[in-house]
Amino acid sequence: IKLAKCKGGGWTKSDLVEYDMAFSNPRNMREELHTFKVEIFDSLDELPEDERELVLTAEDALKSAYAPYSHFRVGAAVSLKTGGFLNIYTGNNQENASFTGSHAERVALDGLARESEKSGLDKIAITSDSPEPVTPCGSCRQDIKEYEDLAGAPITILMAGSRGKVWRVLGIDALLPLAFGPANLCKI
Ligand code: THU
Ligand code: ZN
Repeated sequence: IKLAKCKGGGWTKSDLVEYDMAFSNPRNMREELHTFKVEIFDSLDELPEDERELVLTAEDALKSAYAPYSHFRVGAAVSLKTGGFLNIYTGNNQENASFTGSHAERVALDGLARESEKSGLDKIAITSDSPEPVTPCGSCRQDIKEYEDLAGAPITILMAGSRGKVWRVLGIDALLPLAFGPANLCKI
């Protein structure tokens, strides 16, 4: 297809059709459809016990959120598998007057940040005052991506609503497809 040919007199209708086809179907292009699965639970009772506990721990953490500006409280809990022990860290959003506060997930992951062994992240639960499940913001997704890559295995992400509804995904890829991560900088 002679796309680059200079016509001088402008494009005819059939040229434009040809152009369009060439760009929507270039010969060497491959397409992949990336899909992800979200498991939907209508009640906490449907979850395995450790995950129910993690969501309840996040709900508990939410109670000490400091959100006088947005009035949107978020709670998070992360569980770590390190040397046979199950470690849980919690966090909640902490706002400030200059609107540069911390997100619940980041505060919970700061528990991990303090660990010398950072590769233990196993599961994270997030909840808010909203009845619908709350999902982590883009920046928090990047934080989760970092620790998941260090862990070397997909982590379970539980997103809960205030009335017990939960969305569960396995692996940050579901929330941050084609992500940039430590591997891009050869750090894992
Ligand atoms: N928030 C979180 O704590 N985590 C998120 O990933 C989404 C947003 C908080 C930040 C702010 O305090 C409030 O929710 C409203 O954006
Ligand atoms: Zn966030």
